[in-house]
Amino acid sequence: MKVVANWKMYKTEKESLQFIDAILPHLQGREAYIAAPYPSLSALCKKTANSSISIGAQNMSQHLEGAYTGEVSALMLKEIGAKFVILGHSERRHFFKESEKDIFEKVLTALSQNILAIVCIGETLEEREGGQTKAVLRRQFEAAFQKLEISPKKIMIAYEPVWAIGTGRAATGEMASDAHGYIQRLLEEMVGKNLAQSFTILYGGSVKPENVGEFASMENIGGFLVGGASLDPTSFLSIINAAGV
Ligand code: PGA
Repeated sequence: MKVVANWKMYKTEKESLQFIDAILPHLQGREAYIAAPYPSLSALCKKTANSSISIGAQNMSQHLEGAYTGEVSALMLKEIGAKFVILGHSERRHFFKESEKDIFEKVLTALSQNILAIVCIGETLEEREGGQTKAVLRRQFEAAFQKLEISPKKIMIAYEPVWAIGTGRAATGEMASDAHGYIQRLLEEMVGKNLAQSFTILYGGSVKPENVGEFASMENIGGFLVGGASLDPTSFLSIINAAGV
């Protein structure tokens, strides 16, 4: 299982480094992924360089360089040692109006620069209640990958139902497992059954120490993308323990 912290716009550099000090002795070589705000990334990469922690970004530009005020490129992330990037998070799609085309271009850039991309897809409450969940997952999946050659080492997929993010209202294990099964099918259509099995599909949306066990026991769930509950070292570590990393 993989556990990925998505810190969103929380933690200064100093707080980030304190967090690493708090978790490192307890990880004992187990993997953890942390997506931190840009200003902390360089210091975090240095601090975790010889550890089992991978540091990544929560977004990046599709462009490698240019006159794009306020943007951060894959080249910049690579040089400081960032290992992965979250792309297509619903907060990016909804608050910052990222389009499916933007997300596809970002995936393309991540692949070309060898940065692991964690690509988020998921339906809104309205779409779920309208029976659109599978259609939305298919549309977002196909838009993000189109005809790209994707491999499990370069792409992870996160199923994040929008209504479960930051709301305290997680999906049930069964809902998540259904959606994951469907994403697995989409992967099979794209890369064939054998390769599809090697992809990691994360669940994200109000994962916490109290509910992670329910998801961890479900088929097709390969790990977690954790927002709120990843901010506190004790809670993050208990999720890692419960997930059996
Ligand atoms: P949450 O966020 O765990 O706070 O619901 C998850 C995410 O947005 O990745």
